[in-house]
Amino acid sequence: MERLNQVLLHEKSRVGADLEAWLAHCDGLKIALQEPTAIIPLIKEAGLRGLGGSGFPTHYKWTMLAEQTNSKEKYLICNGNEDEPGTFKDSILLEKTPHQVIEGAMIAALATGINRIVFYINPDLEEAIANMQKAVKQWEESEFYFKVSDHIKQPLNFSVLPSSGHYIGGEETATIETVEGKFPFPRRKPPYPAEKGVYGCPTLINNIETLCNVPHILKNGAKWFQDLGIDDAYGTKIYSLSGDVLSPGVYELPMGTSLSELINDYGGGMLLNKKFKAVFTGGPSNTLLTPKDLDVHLDFDSVAARRSGLGTGAMIVISEGTGIVKRVAEYVSFFAHSSCGQCPSCKTGTYYIAMLLNKIDTGRGRRADLDALINLCEILPGSGRCGLINGAVKALESSLYHFMGEYEHSLK
Ligand SMILES: Cc1cc2nc3c(=O)[nH]c(=O)nc-3n(C[C@H](O)[C@H](O)[C@H](O)COP(=O)(O)O)c2cc1C
Ligand code: SF4
Repeated sequence: MERLNQVLLHEKSRVGADLEAWLAHCDGLKIALQEPTAIIPLIKEAGLRGLGGSGFPTHYKWTMLAEQTNSKEKYLICNGNEDEPGTFKDSILLEKTPHQVIEGAMIAALATGINRIVFYINPDLEEAIANMQKAVKQWEESEFYFKVSDHIKQPLNFSVLPSSGHYIGGEETATIETVEGKFPFPRRKPPYPAEKGVYGCPTLINNIETLCNVPHILKNGAKWFQDLGIDDAYGTKIYSLSGDVLSPGVYELPMGTSLSELINDYGGGMLLNKKFKAVFTGGPSNTLLTPKDLDVHLDFDSVAARRSGLGTGAMIVISEGTGIVKRVAEYVSFFAHSSCGQCPSCKTGTYYIAMLLNKIDTGRGRRADLDALINLCEILPGSGRCGLINGAVKALESSLYHFMGEYEHSLK
Protein backbone atom coordinates (compact mmCIF):
# COMPACT_ATOMS: atom_id res chain seq x y z
CA MET A 1 0.00 0.00 0.00
CA GLU A 2 2.91 2.40 0.59
CA ARG A 3 3.36 2.60 -3.18
CA LEU A 4 0.14 4.63 -3.50
CA ASN A 5 -0.05 8.24 -4.69
CA GLN A 6 3.63 8.71 -5.11
CA VAL A 7 3.95 11.75 -7.33
CA LEU A 8 1.08 13.24 -9.34
CA LEU A 9 -1.54 12.52 -6.69
CA HIS A 10 0.78 13.14 -3.73
CA GLU A 11 -0.85 15.45 -1.20
CA LYS A 12 1.78 18.11 -1.93
CA SER A 13 0.71 18.07 -5.58
CA ARG A 14 -2.99 18.27 -4.70
CA VAL A 15 -2.90 21.91 -3.61
CA GLY A 16 -5.81 23.13 -5.76
CA ALA A 17 -5.40 26.67 -7.10
CA ASP A 18 -2.73 27.67 -4.54
CA LEU A 19 0.32 28.69 -6.54
CA GLU A 20 2.50 29.44 -3.52
CA ALA A 21 1.96 25.95 -2.11
CA TRP A 22 2.66 24.38 -5.50
CA LEU A 23 5.88 26.34 -6.05
CA ALA A 24 7.07 25.38 -2.57
CA HIS A 25 6.73 21.75 -3.66
CA CYS A 26 7.99 21.77 -7.24
CA ASP A 27 10.47 24.01 -9.02
CA GLY A 28 10.55 22.24 -12.38
CA LEU A 29 9.91 25.36 -14.45
CA LYS A 30 12.59 27.32 -12.56
CA ILE A 31 15.11 24.59 -13.49
CA ALA A 32 13.80 24.43 -17.08
CA LEU A 33 14.37 28.19 -17.50
CA GLN A 34 18.07 27.79 -16.69
CA GLU A 35 18.67 25.78 -19.89
CA PRO A 36 15.61 25.47 -22.14
CA THR A 37 17.52 23.54 -24.83
CA ALA A 38 18.15 20.74 -22.32
CA ILE A 39 14.41 20.08 -21.78
CA ILE A 40 13.68 17.82 -24.76
CA PRO A 41 16.83 15.70 -24.32
CA LEU A 42 15.86 15.21 -20.66
CA ILE A 43 12.30 14.16 -21.54
CA LYS A 44 13.80 11.74 -24.07
CA GLU A 45 16.25 10.30 -21.55
CA ALA A 46 13.46 9.87 -18.99
CA GLY A 47 11.45 7.85 -21.53
CA LEU A 48 8.17 9.69 -20.94
CA ARG A 49 5.39 8.27 -23.14
CA GLY A 50 1.99 9.74 -23.95
CA LEU A 51 -0.59 8.70 -21.37
CA GLY A 52 -3.67 9.58 -23.45
CA GLY A 53 -3.79 6.06 -24.84
CA SER A 54 -1.11 5.66 -27.49
CA GLY A 55 2.08 5.51 -25.43
CA PHE A 56 3.81 7.54 -28.15
CA PRO A 57 7.20 8.90 -26.96
CA THR A 58 6.62 12.48 -25.86
CA HIS A 59 9.98 13.82 -27.00
CA TYR A 60 9.25 12.94 -30.66
CA LYS A 61 6.24 15.21 -30.81
CA TRP A 62 8.00 17.97 -28.91
CA THR A 63 11.00 17.79 -31.27
CA MET A 64 8.70 18.05 -34.30
CA LEU A 65 7.14 21.19 -32.82
CA ALA A 66 10.50 22.72 -31.92
CA GLU A 67 11.68 22.18 -35.50
CA GLN A 68 8.75 24.16 -36.94
CA THR A 69 10.39 27.57 -37.04
CA ASN A 70 8.49 29.18 -39.93
CA SER A 71 5.23 29.80 -38.09
CA LYS A 72 4.76 32.80 -35.80
CA GLU A 73 2.06 31.00 -33.85
CA LYS A 74 2.23 27.50 -32.38
CA TYR A 75 -0.43 25.78 -30.28
CA LEU A 76 -0.47 23.30 -27.43
CA ILE A 77 -3.79 21.58 -26.73
CA CYS A 78 -3.82 20.00 -23.28
CA ASN A 79 -6.30 17.21 -23.83
CA GLY A 80 -8.71 16.84 -20.91
CA ASN A 81 -11.72 15.65 -22.88
CA GLU A 82 -11.76 12.30 -21.04
CA ASP A 83 -15.04 10.71 -22.09
CA GLU A 84 -14.19 7.04 -22.60
CA PRO A 85 -16.15 4.70 -20.30
CA GLY A 86 -14.07 3.71 -17.28
CA THR A 87 -11.45 6.47 -17.57
CA PHE A 88 -11.50 9.09 -14.81
CA LYS A 89 -7.91 10.08 -14.06
CA ASP A 90 -7.46 13.42 -15.87
CA SER A 91 -10.51 14.91 -14.17
CA ILE A 92 -8.84 14.47 -10.77
CA LEU A 93 -5.59 15.99 -11.98
CA LEU A 94 -7.42 19.01 -13.40
CA GLU A 95 -9.54 19.49 -10.29
CA LYS A 96 -6.93 18.89 -7.61
CA THR A 97 -3.63 19.75 -9.30
CA PRO A 98 -4.25 22.61 -11.76
CA HIS A 99 -0.77 24.09 -11.17
CA GLN A 100 0.90 20.78 -11.95
CA VAL A 101 -0.94 20.74 -15.32
CA ILE A 102 -0.12 24.37 -16.12
CA GLU A 103 3.55 24.07 -15.18
CA GLY A 104 3.88 20.98 -17.42
CA ALA A 105 2.30 22.93 -20.28
CA MET A 106 4.56 25.96 -19.73
CA ILE A 107 7.66 23.74 -19.80
CA ALA A 108 6.40 22.22 -23.08
CA ALA A 109 5.94 25.75 -24.47
CA LEU A 110 9.42 26.77 -23.36
CA ALA A 111 10.97 23.71 -25.01
CA THR A 112 9.15 24.06 -28.33
CA GLY A 113 8.47 27.78 -28.79
CA ILE A 114 4.72 27.37 -28.41
CA ASN A 115 2.91 30.65 -27.64
CA ARG A 116 -0.73 29.52 -27.34
CA ILE A 117 -1.77 27.02 -24.70
CA VAL A 118 -5.35 25.71 -24.70
CA PHE A 119 -6.61 23.74 -21.72
CA TYR A 120 -9.28 21.66 -23.40
CA ILE A 121 -11.61 20.28 -20.73
CA ASN A 122 -14.74 18.14 -20.70
CA PRO A 123 -17.63 20.56 -19.97
CA ASP A 124 -19.04 18.26 -17.27
CA LEU A 125 -15.96 18.98 -15.13
CA GLU A 126 -17.19 22.27 -13.72
CA GLU A 127 -14.87 22.24 -10.69
CA ALA A 128 -11.88 21.50 -12.91
CA ILE A 129 -12.75 24.35 -15.27
CA ALA A 130 -13.20 26.81 -12.38
CA ASN A 131 -9.93 25.75 -10.72
CA MET A 132 -8.00 25.92 -13.96
CA GLN A 133 -9.33 29.43 -14.65
CA LYS A 134 -8.26 30.57 -11.17
CA ALA A 135 -4.86 28.92 -11.47
CA VAL A 136 -4.17 30.38 -14.93
CA LYS A 137 -4.75 33.90 -13.58
CA GLN A 138 -2.16 33.30 -10.86
CA TRP A 139 0.45 32.17 -13.37
CA GLU A 140 -0.29 35.17 -15.63
CA GLU A 141 0.73 37.44 -12.77
CA SER A 142 3.83 35.46 -11.82
CA GLU A 143 7.44 36.17 -12.78
CA PHE A 144 7.53 32.82 -14.60
CA TYR A 145 4.93 33.95 -17.11
CA PHE A 146 7.16 36.88 -18.15
CA LYS A 147 10.30 34.75 -18.22
CA VAL A 148 8.73 32.16 -20.52
CA SER A 149 7.28 34.94 -22.73
CA ASP A 150 10.75 36.53 -22.92
CA HIS A 151 12.28 33.25 -24.00
CA ILE A 152 9.72 32.56 -26.73
CA LYS A 153 9.87 36.25 -27.74
CA GLN A 154 6.11 36.85 -27.61
CA PRO A 155 3.43 36.88 -24.91
CA LEU A 156 2.31 33.46 -23.82
CA ASN A 157 -1.43 33.10 -24.29
CA PHE A 158 -3.56 30.79 -22.14
CA SER A 159 -7.16 29.79 -22.66
CA VAL A 160 -9.43 27.40 -20.80
CA LEU A 161 -11.82 25.89 -23.31
CA PRO A 162 -14.71 23.55 -22.42
CA SER A 163 -14.77 20.88 -25.13
CA SER A 164 -17.98 19.74 -26.81
CA GLY A 165 -18.18 16.80 -24.42
CA HIS A 166 -18.42 14.30 -27.28
CA TYR A 167 -16.13 11.27 -26.91
CA ILE A 168 -14.87 11.80 -30.45
CA GLY A 169 -13.83 15.34 -29.44
CA GLY A 170 -10.81 13.80 -27.64
CA GLU A 171 -9.26 12.50 -30.88
CA GLU A 172 -6.33 14.75 -31.64
CA THR A 173 -7.49 16.26 -34.94
CA ALA A 174 -11.03 16.64 -33.52
CA THR A 175 -9.56 18.75 -30.71
CA ILE A 176 -8.14 21.03 -33.39
CA GLU A 177 -11.52 21.41 -35.08
CA THR A 178 -13.10 22.27 -31.73
CA VAL A 179 -10.48 24.89 -30.93
CA GLU A 180 -11.34 26.44 -34.32
CA GLY A 181 -14.97 26.59 -33.18
CA LYS A 182 -16.26 23.74 -35.34
CA PHE A 183 -17.91 20.36 -34.70
CA PRO A 184 -15.27 17.78 -33.66
CA PHE A 185 -14.95 15.94 -36.97
CA PRO A 186 -11.57 14.16 -37.08
CA ARG A 187 -9.38 15.25 -39.98
CA ARG A 188 -7.58 13.11 -42.50
CA LYS A 189 -3.88 12.61 -41.73
CA PRO A 190 -1.39 13.65 -43.14
CA PRO A 191 -0.85 16.50 -42.64
CA TYR A 192 -0.14 15.77 -39.00
CA PRO A 193 -0.96 18.34 -36.31
CA ALA A 194 2.74 19.05 -35.73
CA GLU A 195 2.90 20.43 -39.29
CA LYS A 196 -0.60 21.84 -39.71
CA GLY A 197 -3.00 22.07 -36.81
CA VAL A 198 -5.09 24.90 -35.37
CA TYR A 199 -5.64 27.51 -38.14
CA GLY A 200 -2.84 25.82 -40.11
CA CYS A 201 -0.26 26.39 -37.33
CA PRO A 202 1.98 23.68 -35.86
CA THR A 203 0.09 22.11 -32.96
CA LEU A 204 1.09 19.78 -30.16
CA ILE A 205 -1.60 17.70 -28.46
CA ASN A 206 -0.75 16.11 -25.13
CA ASN A 207 -2.77 14.33 -22.52
CA ILE A 208 -3.18 15.90 -19.07
CA GLU A 209 -1.41 13.08 -17.21
CA THR A 210 1.52 13.24 -19.66
CA LEU A 211 1.99 16.94 -18.98
CA CYS A 212 1.71 16.50 -15.20
CA ASN A 213 4.82 14.31 -15.21
CA VAL A 214 6.98 16.98 -16.82
CA PRO A 215 7.65 19.35 -13.85
CA HIS A 216 8.70 16.38 -11.70
CA ILE A 217 11.12 15.09 -14.34
CA LEU A 218 12.71 18.54 -14.53
CA LYS A 219 12.97 18.71 -10.76
CA ASN A 220 14.18 15.18 -10.04
CA GLY A 221 15.90 14.02 -13.24
CA ALA A 222 15.54 11.20 -15.76
CA LYS A 223 16.97 8.43 -13.58
CA TRP A 224 14.56 9.25 -10.74
CA PHE A 225 11.64 9.00 -13.18
CA GLN A 226 12.84 5.70 -14.63
CA ASP A 227 13.30 4.20 -11.17
CA LEU A 228 9.66 4.89 -10.27
CA GLY A 229 8.53 2.17 -12.67
CA ILE A 230 8.98 -1.59 -12.54
CA ASP A 231 11.72 -3.22 -14.67
CA ASP A 232 11.77 -1.57 -18.12
CA ALA A 233 8.66 0.55 -17.47
CA TYR A 234 9.24 4.10 -16.30
CA GLY A 235 7.35 6.53 -14.09
CA THR A 236 4.05 6.01 -12.36
CA LYS A 237 0.64 5.35 -13.90
CA ILE A 238 -2.75 6.46 -12.70
CA TYR A 239 -4.98 3.43 -13.19
CA SER A 240 -8.76 4.00 -13.23
CA LEU A 241 -10.16 0.84 -11.65
CA SER A 242 -13.87 0.11 -11.94
CA GLY A 243 -16.38 -2.70 -12.27
CA ASP A 244 -16.75 -5.70 -9.97
CA VAL A 245 -14.10 -4.83 -7.37
CA LEU A 246 -14.59 -3.87 -3.75
CA SER A 247 -12.79 -0.53 -3.92
CA PRO A 248 -13.00 1.10 -7.34
CA GLY A 249 -11.11 4.36 -7.78
CA VAL A 250 -7.93 5.94 -9.11
CA TYR A 251 -4.63 4.44 -8.02
CA GLU A 252 -1.26 6.00 -8.83
CA LEU A 253 1.18 3.11 -8.80
CA PRO A 254 4.53 2.25 -10.36
CA MET A 255 4.12 1.80 -14.11
CA GLY A 256 4.20 -1.98 -14.56
CA THR A 257 2.26 -2.95 -11.43
CA SER A 258 0.61 -6.32 -12.07
CA LEU A 259 -3.09 -6.64 -12.84
CA SER A 260 -3.53 -9.01 -9.91
CA GLU A 261 -1.88 -6.55 -7.50
CA LEU A 262 -4.09 -3.71 -8.76
CA ILE A 263 -7.28 -5.71 -8.31
CA ASN A 264 -6.47 -7.56 -5.11
CA ASP A 265 -4.07 -5.35 -3.12
CA TYR A 266 -5.48 -1.95 -4.08
CA GLY A 267 -8.98 -2.67 -5.40
CA GLY A 268 -9.77 -4.82 -2.35
CA GLY A 269 -10.38 -7.96 -4.44
CA MET A 270 -13.45 -9.09 -6.31
CA LEU A 271 -16.90 -7.94 -5.25
CA LEU A 272 -18.79 -10.59 -3.23
CA ASN A 273 -15.75 -12.87 -3.61
CA LYS A 274 -16.86 -13.72 -7.14
CA LYS A 275 -14.37 -15.19 -9.61
CA PHE A 276 -12.54 -12.87 -11.96
CA LYS A 277 -13.78 -13.34 -15.52
CA ALA A 278 -12.07 -10.64 -17.60
CA VAL A 279 -10.99 -7.01 -17.74
CA PHE A 280 -11.60 -4.42 -20.45
CA THR A 281 -8.24 -2.64 -20.55
CA GLY A 282 -7.72 0.99 -21.46
CA GLY A 283 -11.47 1.48 -21.43
CA PRO A 284 -13.43 -0.78 -23.74
CA SER A 285 -11.38 0.06 -26.84
CA ASN A 286 -8.77 -2.67 -26.38
CA THR A 287 -8.75 -6.43 -26.32
CA LEU A 288 -9.85 -8.23 -23.15
CA LEU A 289 -7.48 -9.74 -20.62
CA THR A 290 -8.62 -12.98 -18.95
CA PRO A 291 -7.60 -14.99 -15.83
CA LYS A 292 -4.41 -16.28 -17.48
CA ASP A 293 -3.31 -12.62 -17.76
CA LEU A 294 -3.66 -11.71 -14.07
CA ASP A 295 0.14 -11.73 -13.79
CA VAL A 296 0.59 -9.19 -16.62
CA HIS A 297 2.53 -6.05 -15.81
CA LEU A 298 0.38 -3.05 -16.61
CA ASP A 299 2.74 -1.08 -18.83
CA PHE A 300 2.56 -0.37 -22.56
CA ASP A 301 4.95 -3.09 -23.75
CA SER A 302 3.91 -5.89 -21.38
CA VAL A 303 0.19 -5.43 -22.12
CA ALA A 304 0.93 -5.23 -25.87
CA ALA A 305 2.82 -8.53 -25.58
CA ARG A 306 -0.52 -10.09 -24.51
CA ARG A 307 -2.08 -8.67 -27.70
CA SER A 308 -3.97 -5.99 -25.78
CA GLY A 309 -3.26 -2.33 -25.00
CA LEU A 310 -2.72 -0.32 -21.83
CA GLY A 311 -4.64 2.59 -23.38
CA THR A 312 -5.52 5.18 -20.76
CA GLY A 313 -4.86 2.71 -17.93
CA ALA A 314 -8.58 2.16 -17.32
CA MET A 315 -9.37 -1.33 -16.06
CA ILE A 316 -13.05 -2.35 -16.10
CA VAL A 317 -13.23 -5.63 -14.21
CA ILE A 318 -16.02 -8.15 -14.76
CA SER A 319 -16.79 -11.22 -12.70
CA GLU A 320 -18.14 -14.67 -13.47
CA GLY A 321 -21.88 -14.41 -14.06
CA THR A 322 -21.61 -11.24 -16.16
CA GLY A 323 -22.87 -11.83 -19.68
CA ILE A 324 -20.04 -10.93 -22.06
CA VAL A 325 -22.32 -10.46 -25.09
CA LYS A 326 -24.49 -7.91 -23.27
CA ARG A 327 -21.45 -6.01 -21.99
CA VAL A 328 -19.78 -5.83 -25.41
CA ALA A 329 -23.14 -4.77 -26.92
CA GLU A 330 -23.29 -1.86 -24.45
CA TYR A 331 -19.80 -0.69 -25.31
CA VAL A 332 -20.26 -1.03 -29.06
CA SER A 333 -23.50 0.98 -28.73
CA PHE A 334 -21.46 3.68 -27.01
CA PHE A 335 -19.04 3.73 -29.96
CA ALA A 336 -21.95 3.75 -32.43
CA HIS A 337 -23.50 6.78 -30.71
CA SER A 338 -20.08 8.45 -30.56
CA SER A 339 -19.24 7.94 -34.23
CA CYS A 340 -19.09 11.30 -35.99
CA GLY A 341 -20.54 9.74 -39.14
CA GLN A 342 -17.94 10.91 -41.67
CA CYS A 343 -16.92 7.38 -42.67
CA PRO A 344 -19.82 5.18 -43.81
CA SER A 345 -18.06 2.01 -42.64
CA CYS A 346 -17.86 3.37 -39.10
CA LYS A 347 -21.31 4.87 -38.88
CA THR A 348 -23.13 1.86 -40.31
CA GLY A 349 -20.62 -0.76 -39.12
CA THR A 350 -20.79 0.13 -35.42
CA TYR A 351 -24.62 0.28 -35.48
CA TYR A 352 -24.79 -3.00 -37.34
CA ILE A 353 -22.48 -4.70 -34.82
CA ALA A 354 -24.54 -3.31 -31.92
CA MET A 355 -27.75 -4.55 -33.53
CA LEU A 356 -26.33 -8.06 -34.12
CA LEU A 357 -25.00 -8.23 -30.55
CA ASN A 358 -28.37 -7.22 -29.13
CA LYS A 359 -30.05 -9.84 -31.25
CA ILE A 360 -27.71 -12.57 -30.01
CA ASP A 361 -27.87 -11.37 -26.40
CA THR A 362 -31.66 -11.55 -26.40
CA GLY A 363 -31.74 -15.08 -27.82
CA ARG A 364 -32.86 -14.07 -31.30
CA GLY A 365 -29.52 -14.53 -33.06
CA ARG A 366 -28.75 -17.19 -35.66
CA ARG A 367 -25.46 -18.67 -36.86
CA ALA A 368 -25.51 -16.26 -39.83
CA ASP A 369 -25.48 -13.31 -37.39
CA LEU A 370 -22.42 -14.68 -35.63
CA ASP A 371 -20.72 -15.23 -38.99
CA ALA A 372 -21.56 -11.64 -39.93
CA LEU A 373 -19.86 -10.40 -36.74
CA ILE A 374 -16.75 -12.45 -37.51
CA ASN A 375 -16.71 -11.02 -41.03
CA LEU A 376 -17.09 -7.43 -39.78
CA CYS A 377 -14.03 -7.94 -37.57
CA GLU A 378 -12.05 -8.62 -40.74
CA ILE A 379 -13.31 -5.83 -42.97
CA LEU A 380 -13.83 -2.86 -40.65
CA PRO A 381 -10.43 -2.21 -38.97
CA GLY A 382 -8.50 0.58 -40.69
CA SER A 383 -11.51 1.61 -42.79
CA GLY A 384 -12.14 4.84 -40.87
CA ARG A 385 -10.40 8.17 -40.66
CA CYS A 386 -9.65 7.82 -36.95
CA GLY A 387 -9.14 5.17 -34.28
CA LEU A 388 -12.75 4.98 -33.03
CA ILE A 389 -13.80 2.19 -35.34
CA ASN A 390 -10.70 0.10 -34.56
CA GLY A 391 -11.45 0.37 -30.83
CA ALA A 392 -15.04 -0.79 -31.31
CA VAL A 393 -13.93 -3.81 -33.35
CA LYS A 394 -11.11 -4.77 -30.95
CA ALA A 395 -13.52 -5.27 -28.05
CA LEU A 396 -15.78 -7.40 -30.22
CA GLU A 397 -13.02 -9.43 -31.82
CA SER A 398 -11.40 -10.22 -28.53
CA SER A 399 -14.67 -11.24 -26.89
CA LEU A 400 -15.29 -13.60 -29.80
CA TYR A 401 -11.79 -15.04 -29.38
CA HIS A 402 -12.07 -15.64 -25.63
CA PHE A 403 -15.78 -16.32 -25.20
CA MET A 404 -16.99 -17.93 -28.44
CA GLY A 405 -18.77 -20.59 -26.38
CA GLU A 406 -20.91 -17.94 -24.74
CA TYR A 407 -21.87 -16.48 -28.13
CA GLU A 408 -22.74 -19.91 -29.50
CA HIS A 409 -24.73 -20.78 -26.40
CA SER A 410 -26.87 -17.65 -26.90
CA LEU A 411 -27.83 -18.55 -30.49
CA LYS A 412 -31.38 -19.54 -31.30
C1 LIG B 1 -11.90 8.39 -30.37
C2 LIG B 1 -10.71 8.90 -29.62
C3 LIG B 1 -10.89 9.62 -28.44
C4 LIG B 1 -9.78 10.10 -27.73
N1 LIG B 1 -9.98 10.78 -26.55
C5 LIG B 1 -8.90 11.26 -25.86
C6 LIG B 1 -9.09 12.01 -24.66
O1 LIG B 1 -10.20 12.23 -24.19
N2 LIG B 1 -7.96 12.46 -24.03
C7 LIG B 1 -6.70 12.22 -24.52
O2 LIG B 1 -5.72 12.68 -23.94
N3 LIG B 1 -6.50 11.50 -25.65
C8 LIG B 1 -7.58 11.04 -26.33
N4 LIG B 1 -7.37 10.36 -27.50
C9 LIG B 1 -5.98 10.20 -27.99
C10 LIG B 1 -5.56 11.50 -28.73
O3 LIG B 1 -5.90 11.34 -30.10
C11 LIG B 1 -4.04 11.77 -28.64
O4 LIG B 1 -3.35 10.62 -29.03
C12 LIG B 1 -3.56 12.16 -27.24
O5 LIG B 1 -4.30 13.25 -26.71
C13 LIG B 1 -2.09 12.57 -27.32
O6 LIG B 1 -1.57 12.82 -26.05
P1 LIG B 1 -0.33 11.98 -25.45
O7 LIG B 1 0.69 11.87 -26.54
O8 LIG B 1 0.13 12.81 -24.31
O9 LIG B 1 -0.89 10.66 -25.04
C14 LIG B 1 -8.46 9.85 -28.22
C15 LIG B 1 -8.30 9.11 -29.40
C16 LIG B 1 -9.40 8.64 -30.09
C17 LIG B 1 -9.17 7.85 -31.35
S1 SF4 C 1 -13.77 6.44 -37.98
FE1 SF4 C 1 -15.83 6.96 -37.18
S2 SF4 C 1 -15.51 8.49 -35.61
FE2 SF4 C 1 -13.60 8.36 -36.81
S3 SF4 C 1 -13.81 9.96 -38.40
FE3 SF4 C 1 -14.65 8.08 -39.28
S4 SF4 C 1 -16.86 8.14 -38.78
FE4 SF4 C 1 -15.86 9.64 -37.49
